[in-house]
Amino acid sequence: MRLINISEYDHNSMVLGKPIYDSNKRILLAAGRTIDPKIITRLEAIGIEFLFVEDEISKGISIEDMLDMPTWTDAIEAVKTFYHQAVTYHSPKLEGIQKVAGTLLQEVKYRPTLILIPAGTMTKDLQPYAHAVNVTILALLIAKEMGYNDIKQKDLAIGSLVHDIGKILDDDPNKHPEKGFDFLRNISQFSIVSAHIAYQHHERLDGGGFPRKLKDQAFLEMAQICGLANWYDNMISKENFAPHDAMEAIMAASDRAYSHRIVAAFSQSVASYPPGTKVIVDNKEPAIVTKIHKHLQRPIIKLLSNDKIIDLLENPTYMIKPFDTVV
Ligand SMILES: [Fe+2]
Ligand SMILES: [Fe+2]
Repeated sequence: MRLINISEYDHNSMVLGKPIYDSNKRILLAAGRTIDPKIITRLEAIGIEFLFVEDEISKGISIEDMLDMPTWTDAIEAVKTFYHQAVTYHSPKLEGIQKVAGTLLQEVKYRPTLILIPAGTMTKDLQPYAHAVNVTILALLIAKEMGYNDIKQKDLAIGSLVHDIGKILDDDPNKHPEKGFDFLRNISQFSIVSAHIAYQHHERLDGGGFPRKLKDQAFLEMAQICGLANWYDNMISKENFAPHDAMEAIMAASDRAYSHRIVAAFSQSVASYPPGTKVIVDNKEPAIVTKIHKHLQRPIIKLLSNDKIIDLLENPTYMIKPFDTVV
């Protein structure tokens, strides 16, 4: 299985690898089927940008370190419910997002990494909530690497799940951190740390962020983690960056946007080349990533010309680049 942009779909050689859901968690298209070009046009119209497919080159690649679909759709649903309650009720119920925070914490805890399911695999109206779930997964991966305990991870997860809640409370996007904070801190039992994560997630260490242009220690570590996760997921989901390029952008901003310690933890816990990514080896040979292991940046690859398997960890001289940069 591999992830492709919907524009790359070829109904002669690919079948759907994972189901596609509508906004109400109903299966629109089941895994295993081919998609008629007319249906592709309809999927594009409801905002689907990426598809998981099975085809010849991705044969035998299973993306194990990914949330299963029910867990993923339940998490999205819980965030959506909380956001909607924020508009309709004065004080929304916390149980739903607390449960999701606990589930994601466990998922991250017992796996070497977690590969994201891009928000663009969902319909447009669900993408903001899918983004919130992905930001939370990324934040938890970083926190695990930094040795956070469960209590801190829970605060971080809840703050990350609701980091953009201000967007539905005010039309001005510049105000969403503050609007979110004002709303969250007035909910009884809501952690003030989690509320501050929402308030600070667009700040930068060098004072170049918003809304308060916080600097240095005033920018909470947990908010930095959420901010980095948010930036990364936006690059992947909204700006179409390949994971490798988004990782480079973040490394380049080390100590200016976020502390070096956080950037280093991020680079050790998120794979630049997830399974199913097409790459070029040593500037000439096309290959596909089949598996990642402990060293996330040195995956196992398969050469497309002869199906030879190479573990990059055991072959340190081999260099890989994203496929698109060379062709
Ligand atoms: Fe935001
Ligand atoms: Fe965000």
